[in-house]
Amino acid sequence: MQKEEGLMEKITSLAKRRGFIFPGSEIYGGLSGTYDYGPLGVALKNNVKNLWWRMFVDSRDDVYGVDAAILMNSKAWEASGHVSGFSDPLVECKKCKRRFRADHLEGGKKCPECGGELGEARQFNMMFKTHAGATEDESSVVYLRPETAGGIFVNFKNIIDTFHPKLPFGIAQIGKAFRNEIAPRDFVFRSREFEQMELEYFVNENSWEGAFEEWRKDMVHFAEACGLSMDSFHSKDIEAGDLAHYSKKTIDFEFDFPFGRGELWGLAYRGDFDLSAHEKGSTVELKYSDGEGAKITPHVIEPSLGVDRTVLAILASAYKEDVTGDDTRVYLAFPSHIAPIKAAVFPLLKNKPELVEKAREVYTALKKKVPQVMWDDNGNIGKRYRRQDEIGTPWCITIDFDTLGENPEQKDTVTVRNRDTGSQERMPIDTAIEMVAGGVSLYLQ
Ligand code: GAP
Repeated sequence: MQKEEGLMEKITSLAKRRGFIFPGSEIYGGLSGTYDYGPLGVALKNNVKNLWWRMFVDSRDDVYGVDAAILMNSKAWEASGHVSGFSDPLVECKKCKRRFRADHLEGGKKCPECGGELGEARQFNMMFKTHAGATEDESSVVYLRPETAGGIFVNFKNIIDTFHPKLPFGIAQIGKAFRNEIAPRDFVFRSREFEQMELEYFVNENSWEGAFEEWRKDMVHFAEACGLSMDSFHSKDIEAGDLAHYSKKTIDFEFDFPFGRGELWGLAYRGDFDLSAHEKGSTVELKYSDGEGAKITPHVIEPSLGVDRTVLAILASAYKEDVTGDDTRVYLAFPSHIAPIKAAVFPLLKNKPELVEKAREVYTALKKKVPQVMWDDNGNIGKRYRRQDEIGTPWCITIDFDTLGENPEQKDTVTVRNRDTGSQERMPIDTAIEMVAGGVSLYLQ
């Protein structure tokens, strides 16, 4: 996918117009760096998270899921190095007082907004700070977690004690993370509240390279399963000087977003940094016992995937325009297992009770097998197709007079229209239902 002028605006506008993603707190003028997901956005996001959980947790027998609290004892973030080191360089304009990320400014010492002089860069900690309980002093400070990984490491001992796993094994979590980004930008790409899908895979030190390579392949497989345009998907080795404070090796998976190339996900070898740091910070032993008397601190490989960036990459990959003369058909070519709505069911005419009744029957039977289906009887069929195309519905099923038996040979058949080709096929109701159900479960078996 090439960087395309205006594509970002088209995606943002479609996302809002059709109920995928809205600006946060919009009626109050918004809140920078926050977004609200509407009905289709939630469905899309849930499909991504369910697919990840299926591929990274449920389909394996060596990964354990957790859902840890967002608020954690602040000693955990002191131990992990986030209190002292999780910061970005910030500069302030002496004239207009706007603040910028120093490493995002392209050369010069002038303010990009007003041309004023910029002050010296200083480190700005990105964690959101609040207080737990009624007392607001240093002793009650808590942080909103800046990565879900923290909640995994503090549960290492709980998993060892309750499930007695053998190395290698992983602990996975999906959940919200919060970062007080200096410059949120590019829609949901860089926001202040977002979701992560993270997995810490604990290994014996001498086998980290093999595990790293396995997870690299699994992340590529996940990108394919999400329907990402693989021409736009790249991996980049991070140079030693740019590694996060905990990492010994990191690959960034990058994506050619409509605004340019940017980090989509990361895969890091964190060594024994975290378990050692939390053992020191908590004074609780965080070791693995090999059953023969030896105790080791496992090393860890971390595939870390942002849900919101994945959603943006899926939207950008799926966005298509079919131009015929001066008519443009916009459609989202989601894979069927990712599409928020799998099929729409239409009665040909909404003022014919017999058509509506039969269509309701088909809709109910389909919904029992595939919950993400939609009823649509608004406007003519052409308009309904266009609406469903814009939200990426793979199949539209129309119930007409032939379904009712006007043409006896076609009784109990429906037309199924394909989103990507626009072609229509007549088939028995049961076949249509099986086809939709089969497409949905492609990656979920
Ligand atoms: N536990 C490792 C970690 O958090 P990271 O590279 O800082 O590493 C992992 O974040 C992923 O989280 C990123 O690759 C991205 O997908 C997502 N992410 C990070 N900051 C984000 C932000 N401000 N807005 C949206 N997604 C973000």
